[in-house]
Amino acid sequence: MLVTAEEMLKKARAGKYAVGQFNINNLEWTKAILTTAQELNSPVILGVSEGAGKYMTGYKTVVGMVKGMIEELNITVPVALHLDHGSYEGCLKCVEAGFSSIMFDGSHYPIEENVAKTKELVEICKKNNMSLEAEVGSIGGEEDGVIGAGECADPDECKKIADLGVTMLAAGIGNIHGKYPENWKGLSFETLEAVKDKVGDMPLVLHGGTGIPADMIKKAISLGVAKINVNTECQLSFAAATRKYIEEGKDLQGKGFDPRKLLAPGAEAIKATVKEKMELFGSVGRA
Ligand code: 13P
Repeated sequence: MLVTAEEMLKKARAGKYAVGQFNINNLEWTKAILTTAQELNSPVILGVSEGAGKYMTGYKTVVGMVKGMIEELNITVPVALHLDHGSYEGCLKCVEAGFSSIMFDGSHYPIEENVAKTKELVEICKKNNMSLEAEVGSIGGEEDGVIGAGECADPDECKKIADLGVTMLAAGIGNIHGKYPENWKGLSFETLEAVKDKVGDMPLVLHGGTGIPADMIKKAISLGVAKINVNTECQLSFAAATRKYIEEGKDLQGKGFDPRKLLAPGAEAIKATVKEKMELFGSVGRA
């Protein structure tokens, strides 16, 4: 059964650990993440970007696959199925399709418009028993080879959005998606502390979980971060393991061309990455 992210994040915020959001792209990724969460007795959030949703043929397919897998694999740990960086329209589609959680990324709108749209979604999520993540201060990242710096959110704007009754808040604190550039200045703990002072016990979300040093992750958790998103690191480990398998020529031997065999090393690599992150975030044994 799918659950909202509310309960698991409240517990994480109070217990000073973070629940990992791992993005899914296909059946192999989903299975790898769910089985690892079950083995480690950890709550987990499956993130679906709009692009990944499209790739998997639509949100209804994703809901069917995830619900079916939870049942057939006897997954008993709490699992939330969450739209990652949703547009307003994307959010409505995921409500309709049966997701248990959504993120509305209104960070590129002027703050008043972000507030107005987030407010509408708070009501919709309440009616449908779903959790809602909002964003203030855009999270940079690589686009067409150019790495944009992550913004630092305005703590007063964070309070405005938090007060609407969202479940969790992603505030930009200099974090970015993808790999961090050589000259990255690190997370702005000053911003994080200021945001935390304004929003109280609200669980905070750290995007761009790939490549942030362990000590910064731990400090962020101590300052109110209760959800950490990881995507690129799973992509990198999946690609490296698949490439190695092919380069070693194993795909040409015996039944190596079987897609189930070809994708197995990548899936194992994702399992290892997810395990490493769950241990670092402190969510192991918290289901
Ligand atoms: P990374 O790709 O940097 O791990 O970030 C993931 C993320 O924040 C998804 O919203």
